[in-house]
Amino acid sequence: MKKILIATVKPFAPVAVKKISKIFEKAGYEVRLLERYFEKQELLDAVKDVDAAIIRSDIFDEEVLNAGKNLKIVVRAGAGYDNVDLKVASENNIVVMNTPGQNANAVAELAIGLAILGLREQFSGKPGGEMRGRTLGLHGFGFVARNVFRIARAMGMKVIVYTRYSKAAAAAIGLKVTNSLEQLYEKSDIVSIHVPARGEHLKSVSYEVLQHLKDGSIIVNTARKEVINEPDLVRIMTEKPGIKYMSDLTPDCEAEFEEKFPGRFFFTPKKAGAQTAEANLNAGLAAAEQIVDFFEKGDTTYQVNK
Ligand code: 3PG
Repeated sequence: MKKILIATVKPFAPVAVKKISKIFEKAGYEVRLLERYFEKQELLDAVKDVDAAIIRSDIFDEEVLNAGKNLKIVVRAGAGYDNVDLKVASENNIVVMNTPGQNANAVAELAIGLAILGLREQFSGKPGGEMRGRTLGLHGFGFVARNVFRIARAMGMKVIVYTRYSKAAAAAIGLKVTNSLEQLYEKSDIVSIHVPARGEHLKSVSYEVLQHLKDGSIIVNTARKEVINEPDLVRIMTEKPGIKYMSDLTPDCEAEFEEKFPGRFFFTPKKAGAQTAEANLNAGLAAAEQIVDFFEKGDTTYQVNK
């Protein structure tokens, strides 16, 4: 009997766990649940004899992947798989998948919420601003950005985008693609970042780009902290005292922000973008179905370590 581990430090909504378990039970698999664990050892023990794992931002590094002697597949219920060591997974013949798009609306709604929170001066009593009529720049145009676009357009915003790989998708819906990242930052009142933490995107939000921001603009980051060059962010916020940074990821230099930029930043206490029942259900059920399809039909459609 196949053993499936659901390992989530940040648990899925109970309704999602229930429905995920049903999919596995129907397939004749055994489900094991490890939620809210504190020690890595708990994960190392849990992964020891399972055939598959569903995870979220849980770290599957070399040690964990090597501990999973029977592991054949790990599905990251979500978009970003920077928490999985793909090289080691491939060496160990473990298939790694994500569930693209499944939690995108939840993250997009948070991005809009953070933009509003920044524009409204965090409801401090200071006069704020409105979304309508402002220019929103999308840095990247994946599933989350496309949902942000849909919402922003309904709010009466002007939306522009910088993308290298999704130009045709943007053009197809009449969205203006800027010629460069610098141009996107220069023209936007609010920039919302939607690129993964890998390759050319790592630290791609650097001073070279940030220097083009208008004073008073807002940066929203629901992607990853690694895509921003933090010292450069501190530099631009020091030079332009109207810039705000609203993020679902707490930067490493949080203490510096607290000291230097009171009232100009907000970090969700716990990464919250995908933490809705709907997103948990969408991503969790997709992950479960992908595991069953992999074992029963050899389907590797969403494999990211091909
Ligand atoms: C993702 O990459 O899908 C999001 O960052 C959500 O991450 P989470 O599942 O850890 O909340």
